[in-house]
Amino acid sequence: MRIAVVGSGTMGHGIAEVAAMAGMEVKLIDISWDILNRAKERMYDSLKRLHERGTIRETPDTVMSRIEISVSYDVAKDVDFAIEAVPEILELKRKVFQELDRVVPKESILATNTSSIPISDIGEITSRKEKVIGMHFFNPPPLMKLVEVIPSKYTSEDVTRYTVELAKKMGKTPVRLRVEVPGFVSNRIFLRLLQEACREVESGEATIEEVDSSARNKLKLPMGIFELADYVGLDVAVDLWKVIVERGASDVKCSSYKERVDRKELGVKTGKGFYTYPAPGKYSKVSLPPESKVPPERIISLAVNEGAWLIENNIVNAEEIDTVMRLGFNFPKGLLEMADELGLDKILNALREIHSRGYEAYSPNPLLVKMVSQGQTGKSSGRGFYTYGKT
Ligand code: CAA
Repeated sequence: MRIAVVGSGTMGHGIAEVAAMAGMEVKLIDISWDILNRAKERMYDSLKRLHERGTIRETPDTVMSRIEISVSYDVAKDVDFAIEAVPEILELKRKVFQELDRVVPKESILATNTSSIPISDIGEITSRKEKVIGMHFFNPPPLMKLVEVIPSKYTSEDVTRYTVELAKKMGKTPVRLRVEVPGFVSNRIFLRLLQEACREVESGEATIEEVDSSARNKLKLPMGIFELADYVGLDVAVDLWKVIVERGASDVKCSSYKERVDRKELGVKTGKGFYTYPAPGKYSKVSLPPESKVPPERIISLAVNEGAWLIENNIVNAEEIDTVMRLGFNFPKGLLEMADELGLDKILNALREIHSRGYEAYSPNPLLVKMVSQGQTGKSSGRGFYTYGKT
Protein backbone atom coordinates (compact mmCIF):
# COMPACT_ATOMS: atom_id res chain seq x y z
CA MET A 1 0.00 0.00 0.00
CA ARG A 2 1.29 3.44 -0.93
CA ILE A 3 0.43 6.52 1.04
CA ALA A 4 1.30 10.21 0.69
CA VAL A 5 1.60 12.56 3.65
CA VAL A 6 1.70 16.29 2.91
CA GLY A 7 3.30 18.43 5.63
CA SER A 8 6.12 17.09 7.76
CA GLY A 9 5.67 19.14 10.94
CA THR A 10 4.71 17.85 14.38
CA MET A 11 1.82 15.75 13.11
CA GLY A 12 2.87 15.01 9.52
CA HIS A 13 6.19 13.41 10.33
CA GLY A 14 4.53 11.34 13.07
CA ILE A 15 1.79 10.12 10.73
CA ALA A 16 4.38 9.20 8.08
CA GLU A 17 6.30 7.28 10.74
CA VAL A 18 3.15 5.41 11.86
CA ALA A 19 2.31 4.43 8.26
CA ALA A 20 5.86 3.22 7.61
CA MET A 21 5.84 1.21 10.86
CA ALA A 22 2.70 -0.49 9.56
CA GLY A 23 4.64 -1.59 6.46
CA MET A 24 3.27 1.03 4.08
CA GLU A 25 5.32 2.79 1.45
CA VAL A 26 5.27 6.49 2.34
CA LYS A 27 5.83 9.63 0.27
CA LEU A 28 6.39 12.56 2.61
CA ILE A 29 5.98 15.92 0.90
CA ASP A 30 6.88 19.39 2.16
CA ILE A 31 8.05 22.73 0.78
CA SER A 32 11.77 22.57 1.60
CA TRP A 33 14.52 19.98 1.94
CA ASP A 34 15.57 21.59 5.22
CA ILE A 35 12.15 20.94 6.76
CA LEU A 36 12.08 17.41 5.33
CA ASN A 37 15.53 16.57 6.62
CA ARG A 38 14.55 17.76 10.07
CA ALA A 39 11.45 15.57 9.87
CA LYS A 40 13.67 12.63 8.90
CA GLU A 41 15.83 13.17 11.98
CA ARG A 42 12.76 13.36 14.22
CA MET A 43 11.30 10.15 12.75
CA TYR A 44 14.61 8.37 13.14
CA ASP A 45 14.95 9.54 16.75
CA SER A 46 11.41 8.39 17.58
CA LEU A 47 11.89 5.01 15.84
CA LYS A 48 15.11 4.51 17.75
CA ARG A 49 13.28 5.04 21.04
CA LEU A 50 10.49 2.67 19.98
CA HIS A 51 13.03 0.04 18.89
CA GLU A 52 15.03 0.32 22.11
CA ARG A 53 11.83 -0.11 24.12
CA GLY A 54 10.89 -3.18 22.06
CA THR A 55 7.70 -1.58 20.68
CA ILE A 56 8.94 -2.27 17.14
CA ARG A 57 11.06 -5.19 15.98
CA GLU A 58 12.35 -3.68 12.76
CA THR A 59 15.38 -1.43 12.95
CA PRO A 60 14.86 2.33 12.46
CA ASP A 61 16.80 2.05 9.18
CA THR A 62 14.46 -0.61 7.81
CA VAL A 63 11.37 1.46 8.65
CA MET A 64 12.99 4.62 7.26
CA SER A 65 13.77 2.82 3.99
CA ARG A 66 10.01 2.83 3.26
CA ILE A 67 9.82 6.65 3.51
CA GLU A 68 10.66 8.81 0.53
CA ILE A 69 10.85 12.57 1.09
CA SER A 70 10.07 15.04 -1.67
CA VAL A 71 9.40 18.70 -2.42
CA SER A 72 7.27 17.70 -5.41
CA TYR A 73 3.74 16.31 -5.48
CA ASP A 74 4.71 14.07 -8.41
CA VAL A 75 5.73 11.29 -6.01
CA ALA A 76 2.02 11.00 -5.09
CA LYS A 77 0.99 10.02 -8.62
CA ASP A 78 0.43 6.36 -7.75
CA VAL A 79 -0.62 6.45 -4.07
CA ASP A 80 -3.73 4.70 -2.75
CA PHE A 81 -4.38 7.25 -0.03
CA ALA A 82 -3.16 10.73 0.87
CA ILE A 83 -3.20 12.55 4.20
CA GLU A 84 -2.76 16.29 4.50
CA ALA A 85 -1.19 17.66 7.70
CA VAL A 86 -0.25 21.26 6.92
CA PRO A 87 -0.96 24.28 9.20
CA GLU A 88 -4.59 25.13 9.93
CA ILE A 89 -5.00 27.83 7.31
CA LEU A 90 -7.90 27.21 4.95
CA GLU A 91 -6.15 28.92 2.01
CA LEU A 92 -3.13 26.68 2.43
CA LYS A 93 -5.28 23.54 2.70
CA ARG A 94 -7.12 24.67 -0.40
CA LYS A 95 -3.85 24.79 -2.37
CA VAL A 96 -2.70 21.40 -1.06
CA PHE A 97 -6.00 19.73 -1.93
CA GLN A 98 -6.02 21.23 -5.40
CA GLU A 99 -2.54 19.79 -5.96
CA LEU A 100 -3.48 16.41 -4.52
CA ASP A 101 -6.67 16.32 -6.57
CA ARG A 102 -4.58 16.96 -9.69
CA VAL A 103 -1.84 14.38 -9.01
CA VAL A 104 -3.35 11.54 -6.95
CA PRO A 105 -5.20 8.81 -8.93
CA LYS A 106 -8.91 9.62 -9.22
CA GLU A 107 -10.00 6.49 -7.33
CA SER A 108 -7.79 7.26 -4.30
CA ILE A 109 -8.99 8.87 -1.08
CA LEU A 110 -7.82 12.26 0.18
CA ALA A 111 -7.83 12.68 3.96
CA THR A 112 -7.16 15.70 6.14
CA ASN A 113 -5.69 15.68 9.62
CA THR A 114 -7.27 19.06 10.37
CA SER A 115 -8.20 19.47 14.02
CA SER A 116 -11.00 21.93 13.43
CA ILE A 117 -11.67 23.03 9.84
CA PRO A 118 -14.91 21.48 8.51
CA ILE A 119 -14.21 18.52 6.24
CA SER A 120 -17.06 19.57 3.93
CA ASP A 121 -15.33 22.94 3.30
CA ILE A 122 -12.15 21.10 2.33
CA GLY A 123 -13.97 18.48 0.22
CA GLU A 124 -15.69 21.18 -1.81
CA ILE A 125 -12.34 22.37 -3.11
CA THR A 126 -11.80 19.07 -4.96
CA SER A 127 -13.48 17.26 -7.84
CA ARG A 128 -14.00 14.19 -5.61
CA LYS A 129 -15.74 15.47 -2.50
CA GLU A 130 -17.26 12.02 -1.79
CA LYS A 131 -13.67 10.74 -1.43
CA VAL A 132 -12.51 13.39 1.04
CA ILE A 133 -12.56 12.54 4.74
CA GLY A 134 -11.17 13.62 8.11
CA MET A 135 -8.57 11.36 9.67
CA HIS A 136 -7.52 13.02 12.90
CA PHE A 137 -4.38 11.79 14.68
CA PHE A 138 -3.11 12.78 18.12
CA ASN A 139 0.23 14.10 19.24
CA PRO A 140 2.57 12.23 19.34
CA PRO A 141 1.10 9.97 16.62
CA PRO A 142 3.47 7.03 17.24
CA LEU A 143 2.27 6.77 20.86
CA MET A 144 -1.37 7.84 20.76
CA LYS A 145 -3.72 5.04 19.79
CA LEU A 146 -6.71 7.08 18.65
CA VAL A 147 -7.77 8.18 15.19
CA GLU A 148 -11.01 10.10 14.80
CA VAL A 149 -12.66 9.38 11.46
CA ILE A 150 -14.91 12.21 10.32
CA PRO A 151 -17.03 11.81 7.21
CA SER A 152 -18.24 15.13 5.75
CA LYS A 153 -21.78 15.56 4.48
CA TYR A 154 -20.47 14.43 1.07
CA THR A 155 -18.27 11.46 2.07
CA SER A 156 -19.47 8.08 0.81
CA GLU A 157 -20.05 5.19 3.19
CA ASP A 158 -17.43 3.07 1.34
CA VAL A 159 -14.79 5.75 1.82
CA THR A 160 -15.63 6.02 5.53
CA ARG A 161 -15.40 2.25 5.97
CA TYR A 162 -12.11 2.09 4.08
CA THR A 163 -10.65 4.82 6.29
CA VAL A 164 -11.77 3.06 9.46
CA GLU A 165 -10.01 -0.11 8.24
CA LEU A 166 -6.89 1.84 7.28
CA ALA A 167 -6.68 3.32 10.76
CA LYS A 168 -6.82 -0.23 12.16
CA LYS A 169 -4.08 -1.35 9.76
CA MET A 170 -1.98 1.49 11.16
CA GLY A 171 -2.41 -0.05 14.60
CA LYS A 172 -4.87 2.61 15.75
CA THR A 173 -8.33 2.49 17.29
CA PRO A 174 -10.75 4.48 15.14
CA VAL A 175 -13.72 6.37 16.54
CA ARG A 176 -16.13 7.32 13.80
CA LEU A 177 -18.40 10.34 14.20
CA ARG A 178 -21.95 9.86 12.94
CA VAL A 179 -22.24 13.50 11.92
CA GLU A 180 -19.50 16.07 11.47
CA VAL A 181 -19.36 18.78 14.16
CA PRO A 182 -16.81 21.61 14.44
CA GLY A 183 -13.82 20.43 16.50
CA PHE A 184 -15.06 16.83 16.31
CA VAL A 185 -15.27 15.08 19.68
CA SER A 186 -11.69 15.50 20.81
CA ASN A 187 -11.25 19.20 20.35
CA ARG A 188 -14.73 20.16 21.51
CA ILE A 189 -13.88 18.51 24.81
CA PHE A 190 -10.32 19.82 24.81
CA LEU A 191 -11.70 23.34 24.22
CA ARG A 192 -13.93 23.01 27.30
CA LEU A 193 -10.96 21.93 29.41
CA LEU A 194 -8.96 24.90 28.11
CA GLN A 195 -11.85 27.27 28.82
CA GLU A 196 -12.40 26.13 32.40
CA ALA A 197 -8.66 26.14 33.12
CA CYS A 198 -8.53 29.73 31.89
CA ARG A 199 -11.62 30.78 33.86
CA GLU A 200 -10.12 29.34 37.05
CA VAL A 201 -7.03 31.49 36.64
CA GLU A 202 -8.51 34.68 35.22
CA SER A 203 -11.26 34.78 37.86
CA GLY A 204 -8.54 34.56 40.51
CA GLU A 205 -9.79 31.25 41.90
CA ALA A 206 -6.57 29.35 41.28
CA THR A 207 -3.10 29.63 39.84
CA ILE A 208 -1.92 27.94 36.66
CA GLU A 209 0.09 25.49 38.77
CA GLU A 210 -2.88 24.71 41.03
CA VAL A 211 -5.13 23.90 38.06
CA ASP A 212 -2.46 21.64 36.61
CA SER A 213 -1.68 20.02 39.94
CA SER A 214 -5.32 19.10 40.38
CA ALA A 215 -5.48 17.72 36.82
CA ARG A 216 -2.36 15.63 37.28
CA ASN A 217 -2.57 14.63 40.94
CA LYS A 218 -6.33 14.37 41.54
CA LEU A 219 -7.63 13.38 38.11
CA LYS A 220 -4.39 11.51 37.32
CA LEU A 221 -4.16 12.98 33.83
CA PRO A 222 -0.74 12.58 32.18
CA MET A 223 -0.38 16.35 31.87
CA GLY A 224 -1.93 19.44 33.44
CA ILE A 225 -4.34 21.38 31.22
CA PHE A 226 -1.94 24.31 30.64
CA GLU A 227 0.92 21.86 30.25
CA LEU A 228 -1.07 20.03 27.57
CA ALA A 229 -1.86 23.33 25.85
CA ASP A 230 1.90 24.05 25.77
CA TYR A 231 2.52 20.55 24.39
CA VAL A 232 -0.10 20.88 21.62
CA GLY A 233 1.05 24.44 20.83
CA LEU A 234 -0.69 27.57 22.07
CA ASP A 235 -1.16 28.77 18.49
CA VAL A 236 -2.96 25.51 17.70
CA ALA A 237 -5.08 25.89 20.83
CA VAL A 238 -6.02 29.49 19.94
CA ASP A 239 -6.85 28.46 16.35
CA LEU A 240 -9.06 25.56 17.29
CA TRP A 241 -10.79 27.69 19.94
CA LYS A 242 -11.54 30.36 17.32
CA VAL A 243 -12.79 27.94 14.67
CA ILE A 244 -15.10 26.04 17.04
CA VAL A 245 -16.53 29.17 18.66
CA GLU A 246 -17.00 30.91 15.30
CA ARG A 247 -19.06 27.92 14.25
CA GLY A 248 -21.47 28.13 17.14
CA ALA A 249 -19.93 26.77 20.37
CA SER A 250 -20.32 29.06 23.38
CA ASP A 251 -17.34 31.20 24.35
CA VAL A 252 -15.63 31.94 27.67
CA LYS A 253 -13.75 35.21 28.01
CA CYS A 254 -10.05 34.41 28.19
CA SER A 255 -6.82 36.14 27.22
CA SER A 256 -4.16 33.85 28.76
CA TYR A 257 -3.52 31.78 25.61
CA LYS A 258 -3.79 34.57 23.08
CA GLU A 259 -1.46 36.96 24.91
CA ARG A 260 1.28 34.31 24.94
CA VAL A 261 0.80 33.63 21.24
CA ASP A 262 1.11 37.40 20.62
CA ARG A 263 4.45 37.27 22.48
CA LYS A 264 5.47 34.30 20.29
CA GLU A 265 5.50 32.03 23.33
CA LEU A 266 3.86 29.03 21.69
CA GLY A 267 4.66 26.36 24.26
CA VAL A 268 7.01 23.40 23.87
CA LYS A 269 7.83 24.21 20.23
CA THR A 270 9.37 27.60 21.15
CA GLY A 271 10.66 26.43 24.55
CA LYS A 272 8.27 28.70 26.48
CA GLY A 273 4.54 28.97 27.01
CA PHE A 274 2.88 28.74 30.43
CA TYR A 275 6.03 26.90 31.48
CA THR A 276 9.64 26.91 30.35
CA TYR A 277 11.12 23.84 28.60
CA PRO A 278 14.75 22.70 28.23
CA ALA A 279 14.97 23.78 24.57
CA PRO A 280 12.61 24.62 21.70
CA GLY A 281 10.84 21.40 20.70
CA LYS A 282 12.02 19.54 23.78
CA TYR A 283 9.31 18.59 26.24
CA SER A 284 10.05 17.65 29.79
CA LYS A 285 7.44 17.13 32.49
CA VAL A 286 6.76 20.34 34.41
CA SER A 287 7.09 20.31 38.17
CA LEU A 288 3.91 21.11 40.06
CA PRO A 289 2.92 21.55 43.71
CA PRO A 290 1.60 18.27 45.16
CA GLU A 291 -1.46 19.92 46.73
CA SER A 292 -4.20 21.99 45.11
CA LYS A 293 -7.46 23.49 46.31
CA VAL A 294 -9.10 23.12 42.87
CA PRO A 295 -11.90 20.53 43.01
CA PRO A 296 -11.47 17.98 40.21
CA GLU A 297 -15.20 17.99 39.38
CA ARG A 298 -14.94 21.71 38.61
CA ILE A 299 -12.05 21.21 36.15
CA ILE A 300 -14.00 18.67 34.10
CA SER A 301 -17.49 20.16 34.58
CA LEU A 302 -17.62 22.07 31.29
CA ALA A 303 -16.06 19.15 29.39
CA VAL A 304 -18.65 16.74 30.81
CA ASN A 305 -21.39 19.20 29.82
CA GLU A 306 -19.98 19.06 26.29
CA GLY A 307 -19.98 15.25 26.44
CA ALA A 308 -23.70 15.38 27.32
CA TRP A 309 -24.25 17.67 24.33
CA LEU A 310 -22.46 15.23 21.99
CA ILE A 311 -24.63 12.35 23.24
CA GLU A 312 -27.82 14.39 23.12
CA ASN A 313 -27.08 15.28 19.49
CA ASN A 314 -26.29 11.66 18.57
CA ILE A 315 -22.76 12.48 17.38
CA VAL A 316 -21.19 9.69 19.46
CA ASN A 317 -22.15 7.69 22.56
CA ALA A 318 -20.63 7.73 26.06
CA GLU A 319 -18.23 4.85 25.33
CA GLU A 320 -16.95 6.58 22.20
CA ILE A 321 -16.34 9.82 24.08
CA ASP A 322 -14.41 7.90 26.70
CA THR A 323 -12.38 6.06 24.04
CA VAL A 324 -11.45 9.43 22.55
CA MET A 325 -10.23 10.74 25.90
CA ARG A 326 -8.42 7.56 26.94
CA LEU A 327 -6.68 6.88 23.65
CA GLY A 328 -6.36 10.41 22.23
CA PHE A 329 -5.29 12.16 25.44
CA ASN A 330 -4.07 9.19 27.51
CA PHE A 331 -6.62 9.82 30.26
CA PRO A 332 -6.30 6.96 32.77
CA LYS A 333 -10.05 6.44 32.43
CA GLY A 334 -12.81 7.94 30.35
CA LEU A 335 -14.03 11.48 31.03
CA LEU A 336 -17.60 10.32 31.65
CA GLU A 337 -16.42 7.41 33.75
CA MET A 338 -14.57 9.97 35.88
CA ALA A 339 -17.71 12.09 36.05
CA ASP A 340 -19.74 9.08 37.21
CA GLU A 341 -17.17 8.43 39.93
CA LEU A 342 -17.00 12.03 41.11
CA GLY A 343 -20.81 12.33 41.04
CA LEU A 344 -22.95 13.92 38.34
CA ASP A 345 -24.74 15.94 41.02
CA LYS A 346 -21.41 17.53 41.95
CA ILE A 347 -20.62 18.24 38.28
CA LEU A 348 -24.05 19.81 37.83
CA ASN A 349 -23.63 21.93 40.97
CA ALA A 350 -20.28 23.21 39.70
CA LEU A 351 -21.87 24.17 36.37
CA ARG A 352 -24.83 25.87 38.05
CA GLU A 353 -22.65 27.80 40.43
CA ILE A 354 -20.39 29.15 37.68
CA HIS A 355 -23.38 29.79 35.39
CA SER A 356 -25.04 31.84 38.13
CA ARG A 357 -22.04 34.16 38.05
CA GLY A 358 -22.81 35.10 34.45
CA TYR A 359 -20.77 32.53 32.48
CA GLU A 360 -23.31 31.58 29.78
CA ALA A 361 -21.23 28.66 28.45
CA TYR A 362 -21.84 26.81 31.72
CA SER A 363 -25.58 26.53 31.17
CA PRO A 364 -26.18 22.88 32.14
CA ASN A 365 -27.08 20.54 29.31
CA PRO A 366 -30.69 19.23 29.52
CA LEU A 367 -29.51 15.60 29.40
CA LEU A 368 -27.31 16.11 32.45
CA VAL A 369 -30.09 17.93 34.30
CA LYS A 370 -32.53 15.12 33.47
CA MET A 371 -30.11 12.40 34.60
CA VAL A 372 -29.52 14.05 37.97
CA SER A 373 -33.22 14.82 38.51
CA GLN A 374 -33.97 11.13 37.91
CA GLY A 375 -31.40 10.12 40.50
CA GLN A 376 -28.81 8.98 37.94
CA THR A 377 -25.98 10.65 39.79
CA GLY A 378 -23.21 8.25 38.80
CA LYS A 379 -21.48 5.24 40.22
CA SER A 380 -22.76 5.64 43.79
CA SER A 381 -26.39 5.52 42.60
CA GLY A 382 -25.74 2.58 40.26
CA ARG A 383 -26.48 4.68 37.17
CA GLY A 384 -24.94 7.63 35.44
CA PHE A 385 -23.49 7.69 31.94
CA TYR A 386 -22.96 3.97 32.60
CA THR A 387 -24.87 1.37 34.57
CA TYR A 388 -23.11 -0.26 37.52
CA GLY A 389 -23.93 -3.62 39.01
CA LYS A 390 -24.11 -4.13 42.77
CA THR A 391 -20.74 -5.16 44.19
N1 CAA B 1 8.22 8.70 19.77
C1 CAA B 1 8.65 7.64 20.49
N2 CAA B 1 8.71 7.65 21.83
C2 CAA B 1 8.33 8.77 22.47
C3 CAA B 1 7.86 9.92 21.78
C4 CAA B 1 7.80 9.85 20.36
N3 CAA B 1 7.36 10.86 19.62
N4 CAA B 1 7.52 10.88 22.71
C5 CAA B 1 7.78 10.36 23.93
N5 CAA B 1 8.25 9.10 23.78
C6 CAA B 1 8.65 8.17 24.84
C7 CAA B 1 9.77 8.68 25.70
O1 CAA B 1 11.01 8.42 25.12
C8 CAA B 1 9.57 7.90 26.98
O2 CAA B 1 10.10 6.58 26.79
P1 CAA B 1 10.74 5.75 28.01
O3 CAA B 1 9.60 5.53 28.97
O4 CAA B 1 11.22 4.48 27.36
O5 CAA B 1 11.82 6.61 28.56
C9 CAA B 1 8.05 7.76 27.07
O6 CAA B 1 7.54 8.01 25.74
C10 CAA B 1 7.45 8.75 28.03
O7 CAA B 1 7.83 10.07 27.66
P2 CAA B 1 8.35 11.18 28.68
O8 CAA B 1 9.16 10.53 29.76
O9 CAA B 1 8.98 12.29 27.88
O10 CAA B 1 7.09 11.88 29.33
P3 CAA B 1 5.68 11.33 29.79
O11 CAA B 1 5.81 10.15 30.67
O12 CAA B 1 4.92 12.51 30.30
O13 CAA B 1 4.93 10.86 28.45
C11 CAA B 1 3.39 11.57 26.82
C12 CAA B 1 4.78 11.73 27.38
C13 CAA B 1 3.21 10.16 26.26
C14 CAA B 1 3.26 12.58 25.69
C15 CAA B 1 2.34 11.80 27.97
O14 CAA B 1 2.66 12.93 28.72
C16 CAA B 1 0.93 11.96 27.46
O15 CAA B 1 0.27 11.01 27.14
N6 CAA B 1 0.44 13.23 27.41
C17 CAA B 1 -0.87 13.56 26.83
C18 CAA B 1 -0.69 13.79 25.36
C19 CAA B 1 -1.96 14.21 24.69
O16 CAA B 1 -2.97 14.47 25.32
N7 CAA B 1 -1.93 14.29 23.35
C20 CAA B 1 -3.08 14.72 22.57
C21 CAA B 1 -3.02 16.19 22.33
S1 CAA B 1 -4.40 16.80 21.42
C22 CAA B 1 -4.03 16.49 19.81
O17 CAA B 1 -2.99 16.05 19.45
C23 CAA B 1 -5.12 16.76 18.83
C24 CAA B 1 -5.32 18.12 18.38
O18 CAA B 1 -5.99 18.27 17.37
C25 CAA B 1 -4.88 19.31 19.10
